[in-house]
Amino acid sequence: MQVKHFPTTVAAAYAVADRIAERLKATPKIVLGLATGVTMEPVYERLVALHRAGEISFANVTSFNLDEYVGLPPVDPRSYRSTMDSQLFDLVDIDKSRTFVPDGLVADPKAFGSRYEAMIREAGGIDLQLLGIGRNGHIGFNEPGADFAARTRVVDLEKSTLEANSAFFGGALPPTQAMTMGIGTILDSREIIVLATGATKRDAVRASLLGDITPDCPATALRRHPNVSWWLDAESGAGVASGSLAAE
Ligand code: GLP
Repeated sequence: MQVKHFPTTVAAAYAVADRIAERLKATPKIVLGLATGVTMEPVYERLVALHRAGEISFANVTSFNLDEYVGLPPVDPRSYRSTMDSQLFDLVDIDKSRTFVPDGLVADPKAFGSRYEAMIREAGGIDLQLLGIGRNGHIGFNEPGADFAARTRVVDLEKSTLEANSAFFGGALPPTQAMTMGIGTILDSREIIVLATGATKRDAVRASLLGDITPDCPATALRRHPNVSWWLDAESGAGVASGSLAAE
């Protein structure tokens, strides 16, 4: 596990975008795992800029997003599908038929979860998974208590998560359930980049990197993966040393 520090939020996010761009240039058919949230906005902004500058093409990329709210249609501007379209997919040359976001409206979520997992496998697995982190240490929408072996499924969201994400809902609470890749799905990715910025993530970062490995802090599961890097700004990374740690 590698820990990298950057002086500012933008510097950390742009460095993550540059790393994704580097992987994309080396492997044009890369399978990306993508995340949403405020943290990712500057990452996508930079990727779009690199695309417009002619440096990268998404033409051969396949992508799988981590999660989606249950009950929001894809066209709802607050859905993660809409968010991805407006922040990245509609602004680059990606083939949208190869961009996958969990469906929050399916009648049979269990069947959908299995299908999503099968689609990831059929695409060859995720080469590079981009992750944010919740204030309570969640990854994707795997809240504290989630099984480290869990696969794509519907979960209940914690009150603190609903409150943290209420800004996207005009101050109202978001839907109380989400369809999310499981921690097991995430751990199957070949490389994982975690971007955490801002003071609200400091405790979760410290617990994830330095605390006991426990489902109480889902991101501690990442310590069992052989290829994870944490990209932190001054606020989120305070009190955490740079450098490499072996997987546990
Ligand atoms: C959200 C998403 C996660 C995201 C995290 C942090 O609820 N489900 O995928 O990484 O919580 O979000 P933000 O970047 O807005 O702080």
